[in-house]
Amino acid sequence: MKKEMWEKIISCPYHAWSYDLDGKLKSAPHVGGTNHHKPEGFNFSDHGLKPIKIHIWHDWIFINLNGKAKKFEQYAKPLIQKFEDIDFTKLKYAATLDFGKINTNWKFLIENFIEPYHVQFVHKTTTNQLLKDHYTIVDGICYGSGVNVDEEDTKNSSALSVTSKYLSLFPNFIIGTYFPNQIGVYLNIPISPGITSQKRIIYTTDGKNMGDEEIKMVKNIWWNVHKEDHKMCERLQEGRNSPASHDGGLLSPVWEKGVQAFQKLIVDATIKSSKSIKRK
Ligand SMILES: [Fe+2]
Repeated sequence: MKKEMWEKIISCPYHAWSYDLDGKLKSAPHVGGTNHHKPEGFNFSDHGLKPIKIHIWHDWIFINLNGKAKKFEQYAKPLIQKFEDIDFTKLKYAATLDFGKINTNWKFLIENFIEPYHVQFVHKTTTNQLLKDHYTIVDGICYGSGVNVDEEDTKNSSALSVTSKYLSLFPNFIIGTYFPNQIGVYLNIPISPGITSQKRIIYTTDGKNMGDEEIKMVKNIWWNVHKEDHKMCERLQEGRNSPASHDGGLLSPVWEKGVQAFQKLIVDATIKSSKSIKRK
């Protein structure tokens, strides 16, 4: 078969059933026994892929498995409004940082991203952003923080010294503005309750390509910042295994408002989903 034809087929690696790009089942080799590819009573039209609801927002695909999600523009309105000053049509991919597997639950990585409380302690050498210059943002399903730096230094190759805003959209979309013309988006993929794989994608927002030296600089900064966060999140994961943490912990009423909002949404979503399982 020609290469171009293969590219138009989705093939299951388990029993080699294949589907066209609309999800229709096209072949089910040997399903009725050796060389019986179309047994009597087997209706190909009954066994297509299940459709799911998706929305493409710029470079990112949002997936809704139960089909009950609101329209994306309505759901994500609090987040979209906070980035109105960015022209997303000028978005250009610059680089990917692949951190591989981190020994922590995905929620710790989100919580760590939301709150600014740890920045001047955990990132004391990789950022020049002081706690006092930070503010928190909580707007329904969108939460995070921002920091205003009076004397920005966009050429600092070892520490973040710029005004930034970093937000999360429930449950796991993460986006931040760093430097005047850059955004970063994280992808946190839960592998198991104690393991998450993480990538950070870096873009420019002024339509310009980033030069090799600049890519090297921002990759270096972000690699170091993320590694500092990973160490903390892995320790949090270990701590949660202790009986001492069974009754929960304490959050700062000032700096961790976003974490509180996220945890409440997680609890609500868990209750809703367990009620729906019981009904079934
Ligand atoms: Fe951090």
